[in-house]
Amino acid sequence: MSDQIVQFAYLLAAVLFILGLHNLSSPRTAPRGNMMAAVGMLIAIVATLLVTGVVDYWIILAGVVVGSAIGAVLALRIQMTAMPQMVALLNGFGGAASTLVASAELLRYMRRAESPEGIVPIAIVLGVLIGGVTFTGSLIAFAKLQEMMRGAPITYRGQQFVNALLGLGAVALCVGVVLDPFDMPVFSGLVAMSLLLGVLLVIPIGGADMPVVISLLNSYSGLAACATGFVLGNSGLVISGSLVGASGIILTKIMCDAMNRSLANVLFGAFGAVDEAAVASGAAAARGTVKGYTPEDAAVIFSNSRSAIVVPGYGMAVAQAQHAVRELADELEKQGVRVKYAIHPVAGRMPGHMNVLLAEADVPYEQLIEMDEINPEFPETDVALVIGANDVVNPDARTEKSSPIYGMPILDVDRAKHVFVLKRSMNPGFAGVQNPLFYNDNTMMVFGDAKDTILKMVEAVRQFR
Ligand code: TAP
Repeated sequence: MSDQIVQFAYLLAAVLFILGLHNLSSPRTAPRGNMMAAVGMLIAIVATLLVTGVVDYWIILAGVVVGSAIGAVLALRIQMTAMPQMVALLNGFGGAASTLVASAELLRYMRRAESPEGIVPIAIVLGVLIGGVTFTGSLIAFAKLQEMMRGAPITYRGQQFVNALLGLGAVALCVGVVLDPFDMPVFSGLVAMSLLLGVLLVIPIGGADMPVVISLLNSYSGLAACATGFVLGNSGLVISGSLVGASGIILTKIMCDAMNRSLANVLFGAFGAVDEAAVASGAAAARGTVKGYTPEDAAVIFSNSRSAIVVPGYGMAVAQAQHAVRELADELEKQGVRVKYAIHPVAGRMPGHMNVLLAEADVPYEQLIEMDEINPEFPETDVALVIGANDVVNPDARTEKSSPIYGMPILDVDRAKHVFVLKRSMNPGFAGVQNPLFYNDNTMMVFGDAKDTILKMVEAVRQFR
């Protein structure tokens, strides 16, 4: 196949990747975006396989069959709540692939006794370093989320100093490989250092921050692939790697902004370690009495309401309550209540967590309203129904400067006429702080598993039909 056709195929694939990313920005067009990007990847793979120089098609075919079979089984069996760890593993494999390809290319140069020239040695060390960090970092992220290891931050005195020292060591090894690419002990040292750094950089990060880390590692896997693209002189890999690198870092920034935390705080702040001061400040704020209500009491309020906003959070995912929520919304709509859903950008534990769960229950997209758009509607709303959400509705984020979540944008549910909060206990959420919302005069706590409570509410609301 002529080089021009291959380059054109890569260009076409790149256009499809960009259009795919553009379509992924809305839940309505996301399936089309996914399909476009997949077709782009197919074109890029076919073009690459047709480039002369492929040594053995059978080995490649065997890899495709085995890899596709494992991927398909995993994709079909994975629970939606386990998606972050699946993405972590996939990123990790991407990083490992970059390390292996960059190393193999170096060995090929060595066998031909030909020194890599120009940008190639730099691309080789970057592919190995970033790929190695991504691989082991992703495995640790996976192990934390899968509860195969302790999710709490693992910290020790002088940790950041040790990591900085090892980082400098990695840079020195990179320089060593660039100066003499065939010095195998130095190259092996670089591979080992990359793998070690991946572990050490991720262990001090708390399990609940793993979605941000995974997004960052996703970006790294793209950068590693991009570097490998330069090693191979493959423009398709350079373009797709850059797109992954850029979109990963943008998503990481969006997640940090939505939590009002800097990336440095996520990476080095050991968030999730028990913070006695924060708990104490939360306890101080949490004075007053809590009013416990039954699902039947809630139904009485609903029967006198015209509008309701459902505010889902992590607890809805834990309870798998999305189908029951949809049932309740249908019942309320039949009784003339206008129902909308308020979506906080970091509700739950992964980007788009609530959208995905509600889409699974066929909730119409137009009823899912983003935070900035829905906030002005709360004062005019009869009922805000908070389902397993806590931090994303904590009014302390607006006013309490000592709170760890001060400054985080929240859903203004406390401004609604009535607020129902569905949770099992008075336990705090991810940030570990108490929530004064629960003590407000207009707040009614309905304790219990969210799914059970909502199903009871559906029954009770039906009685009023
Ligand atoms: P959280 O603040 O974590 O609160 C979840 C609440 O759900 C808990 O208070 C818990 O209370 C309740 N719950 C758990 N299981 C339940 C069940 N079966 N039935 C009813 N309630 C249940 O959740 P949120 O408001 O969604 O906030 C998300 C937090 O995660 C934020 O702090 C955010 O910064 C952080 N975070 C998010 C992301 C992304 S990308 N979404 C990434 C990293 C961190 P009980 O135990 O009393 O039931």
